[in-house]
Amino acid sequence: IGGSVICLKETESTNAVAFKLAEEGGVEGTVVIADAQSAGKGRLGRVWLSPPGVNLYCSVILRPPISPVAACQLTFLSVVAVARAVEACTTVTPQIKWPNDILVSGKKVAGLLNEMNAETEKVNFVVLGIGVNLNMRADQFGTTLRHPATSLFEAGGVEVNRVQFARTLLAELDRLYEVFLKEGEAPIRSEWLERSRICGRGVKVSCGEREFSGVVEGLDAFGALLVRLSDGKLETVLSGDVSLIN
Ligand code: BTN
Repeated sequence: IGGSVICLKETESTNAVAFKLAEEGGVEGTVVIADAQSAGKGRLGRVWLSPPGVNLYCSVILRPPISPVAACQLTFLSVVAVARAVEACTTVTPQIKWPNDILVSGKKVAGLLNEMNAETEKVNFVVLGIGVNLNMRADQFGTTLRHPATSLFEAGGVEVNRVQFARTLLAELDRLYEVFLKEGEAPIRSEWLERSRICGRGVKVSCGEREFSGVVEGLDAFGALLVRLSDGKLETVLSGDVSLIN
């Protein structure tokens, strides 16, 4: 990963650029990084704030030999890579929140958006989109965000070197992807679980209209959260909002 790195001053979205490159045959490991994004994409059609010069906006083309249902496992890979890079480059402690948020002191500092091109049986390519709030200042977040957000600078009080952070992150992604290809998702899932510290804890889950509580038993191979209810039933949570209750 990072054999070819394309650095842009400003673009709409690094994910859109990488997706187009991949459609045109861009090789696995190609990375697109921008200084600023004019239409940064978040999950669920949301906007990702992307002011110039302060943060990391990057997208990586992968061509893993896996089925489309297994591709969500790559999200766990990105989460773990970002957490490792935050630990290596700063003094702040990253927390992982299911399924793919990275928080510091309860506020979001990084977001992941994977986009895929696949046939029924096999993935053609996946674009891993990673945005990390490095040096953004509190007053740059505005008032429109749904969830509280922060940056590594705001949390740790020290400017983060963007080039060093990007290098560290790409090296971690590279290491983890090699593990993923050789040994599958299990080792990455266990690091995710260790870091998320939700195993064995009581949680409240809300998915749509439904709300329930239970104790987290782990993740299945497809990233679903396994929650044991008080009546002994095991719920498989594919999407929703999860918060700790004790
Ligand atoms: C989220 O909603 O949490 C996901 C945010 C993902 C943002 C990154 S920034 C680099 C890449 N390009 C985009 O347009 N989005 C992702």
